[in-house]
Amino acid sequence: MEKAVPLKTSIEVSRIRKSCRLVETLFLELKSRMAPGMTTLDVNGLCDVFLRAGGGASSLKGYRGFPGSICTSVNNVAAHGVPSEYRLGLGDLVSVDITAHIDGWHGDSAWTYILGDGTPDARRLLKAAWQATMAGIRAAKAGRRLGDVGAAIQESARRFGCGVLDKYVGHGIGLDMHEEPMVLNFGSPGTGQPIVPGMVFTIEPILCLGAPEVRTLGDGWSIATADNSLSAQFEQTVAVFRDRTEILTLSSVKGALDLEFPPFY
Ligand code: MF3
Ligand code: CO
Ligand code: CO
Repeated sequence: MEKAVPLKTSIEVSRIRKSCRLVETLFLELKSRMAPGMTTLDVNGLCDVFLRAGGGASSLKGYRGFPGSICTSVNNVAAHGVPSEYRLGLGDLVSVDITAHIDGWHGDSAWTYILGDGTPDARRLLKAAWQATMAGIRAAKAGRRLGDVGAAIQESARRFGCGVLDKYVGHGIGLDMHEEPMVLNFGSPGTGQPIVPGMVFTIEPILCLGAPEVRTLGDGWSIATADNSLSAQFEQTVAVFRDRTEILTLSSVKGALDLEFPPFY
């Protein structure tokens, strides 16, 4: 049987929305401030200051001993990249994962940026990662099932010829950063846990250009693709209502679900 999901009242959703908006604003800020020549630790510091100035704090710092305030996963690093002295260069594909809490309520989102124009391959991957996330969110409606979400993600990635890292999943979020339900990035339509009003969870597929296999790097955290192919990720926190699903981490972008390409990168 499925594990119990802590459903949220609309007041609780509004608390999560606050954290989500702070994270969203930070991604817009990073668009203009992240530049070649900065180290990923510089980006980490900038984010930490921004979150505090906004009345929140990083949920990741110290989480299970994680050393950063954010995850910075560059090029072949797919997830959980530890901010370091690595200096960003033109053409780098940089995924930034930010989880913040305000008054104990967490919001979680990831965005991938290309520094400069990027190669055609990097742009194709970015487009695929964006569309897979949006396809998953379109399926995340009350009355449907989590298998519909996974199937939509998997099918969308397949159309672009991209792999999905199946070990990494979305998750419920609220007073804990990771709650039930687990949101798989693959599945069969009409199967899995029913999606009901009050659920708040993330959709966060990680796509890559090569084989969807990973290895852990020497820092003990960073997960790289086994074949060093490029990877990209978009993560959004969504809240399910009876008649609509709101993307809590994307309030400033109208019609996001229909965009072919991320609105900024
Ligand atoms: N924000 C990540 C997620 O999407 C969690 C990263 S855990 C860390 O679930 F320890 F690597 F930071
Ligand atoms: Co995240
Ligand atoms: Co997450």
